[in-house]
Amino acid sequence: MRQAGRHFLQIPGPSAVPDRILSAIGQQTIDHRGPDFAAVGKKALDGMKTIFKTEQHVFIFPSSGTGAWEAALVNTMSSGDKVLMFETGHFATLWNKMARKIGLEPEFLQGDWRGGAEPDRIEARLREDKNHEIKAVCVVHNETSTGSVSPIADVRRAIDAAGHPALLMVDTISGLASIDFRFDEWGVDVCVSGSQKGLMLPPGLSFNAVSEKAMQHAKSVTMPRSYWDWHDMVGPNETGYFPYTPGTNLLYGLNEAIDMLHEEGLDNVFARHARHGAATRAAVRAWGLEVLCARQGQESGVLTAVLVPQGHSADAFRANTLKHYDISLGNGLSKVADKVFRIGHLGDFNDLMLMATLSGVEMGLAKAGIPHQSGGAQTAMEHLKDTTKERHAAE
Ligand SMILES: Cc1ncc(COP(=O)(O)O)c(C=O)c1O
Repeated sequence: MRQAGRHFLQIPGPSAVPDRILSAIGQQTIDHRGPDFAAVGKKALDGMKTIFKTEQHVFIFPSSGTGAWEAALVNTMSSGDKVLMFETGHFATLWNKMARKIGLEPEFLQGDWRGGAEPDRIEARLREDKNHEIKAVCVVHNETSTGSVSPIADVRRAIDAAGHPALLMVDTISGLASIDFRFDEWGVDVCVSGSQKGLMLPPGLSFNAVSEKAMQHAKSVTMPRSYWDWHDMVGPNETGYFPYTPGTNLLYGLNEAIDMLHEEGLDNVFARHARHGAATRAAVRAWGLEVLCARQGQESGVLTAVLVPQGHSADAFRANTLKHYDISLGNGLSKVADKVFRIGHLGDFNDLMLMATLSGVEMGLAKAGIPHQSGGAQTAMEHLKDTTKERHAAE
């Protein structure tokens, strides 16, 4: 049966696509080798540098984020190389599995899925690696399965403190354009991202930001690669073109998204996400439920993963809430399947959208018979009333 009104897509990506971006994507596809395309490609490539905060290299692939994970590894590694990864959650685990599948030797520092990567443990492991066999440290910035943020600048400091030459690779697929990220300042070597989260686009574009050091490295490593080869991209990219057919219409959308982010101002975007995360956690506490991220200061502004009380099914709750209130909430993945639901509060999102979302969750908890106290949405509203939006000058 038809459901009246707008569906609430409150999963932690893909996020709802704003009308301005949908209109941009709806323009006629043009010749990607013709004269008009150069401006589109150039704007996207240069614009993404301002989002990653880098003056080094950015590559754009027509793929999901998983493709850019693979690109990061195959451009910088030789078969059998060791990489050090940190188990922040499901996505770190998938990246680890990929590394193994393509012939690397990943070492996985175990985590409890309740916080970000731990720089001290990374430093200790690197100090033991006297022969510098570890070629890269790979960390997920915003772990989308748990709602925890890793301290990337501290991971860089840990690598430097150990005097280790390993590359720093960061997955910020769900962090970019929602949580502060500074590629150059933080000394990141390779960054992986995707279009369908903070960038507010549909799925289908992925990104690598790459340091000069990693570009040089790519010249000497031997992992087979073709589609993902950064060095095949560099030449055409200089004039705004790509070595194969790019996602032209998604690039129109990307250029619109970059404009929108700068019109609001990146600092305002980050503050908005942080404030919505804090209001959501206030709601969860008022419901008497537990936030999965247990490390203060590492809670995500992108999503909040909420533990349901033992003996209750998070998936049954989500299905029921979808049916009654037409809202999609994120499911728990692998280790926390059916134990948590995830509230996405990212992308093109405002106070009233958050209030509707939390009202939907609260009504859903009641309808599904999940033990809780009412008043979480009210508490979030008080939080929003008591805190004002930060207003930095737009860029
Ligand atoms: C942190 C993180 N890494 C990797 C991925 C995989 O990206 P994709 O599903 O676009 O291939 C996701 C997807 O949600 C993610 O959130």
